[in-house]
Amino acid sequence: MSDNFVLACESHEIKAGEAKNVVVDGIEMTIFHTENGFVAHSGYCKHNAFKLELCEISGDIVRCPRHGWKYRISNGEGIKPAWTSLENYPVELRGEEIWVKPEAEESSNDFDTSAYDW
Ligand code: FES
Repeated sequence: MSDNFVLACESHEIKAGEAKNVVVDGIEMTIFHTENGFVAHSGYCKHNAFKLELCEISGDIVRCPRHGWKYRISNGEGIKPAWTSLENYPVELRGEEIWVKPEAEESSNDFDTSAYDW
């Protein structure tokens, strides 16, 4: 029986402190290599869809260079603004392989940003 995890990439493809976008089951997500292991979130900034792998990473914070939105990498919560968040995807490291479950664990962002002119 399948556990619904899908092979995303090899661990050596993402250096410590960096991130990589992958597409798993048609879902683009960003895998971050943190000091506590690998975590996966939605692949784009929630503001205007800038790829998170291209954003600035500093410790546990990823900052989108386009307009400055920030997220906490460890759990995906929004910092600036605080009302947004990234979807979190379960990750398992199996040997040298990173497996992800393409089912978001949560998203507290029900806010409709399309109504705003940022
Ligand atoms: S697209 Fe990321 S802050 Fe605007």
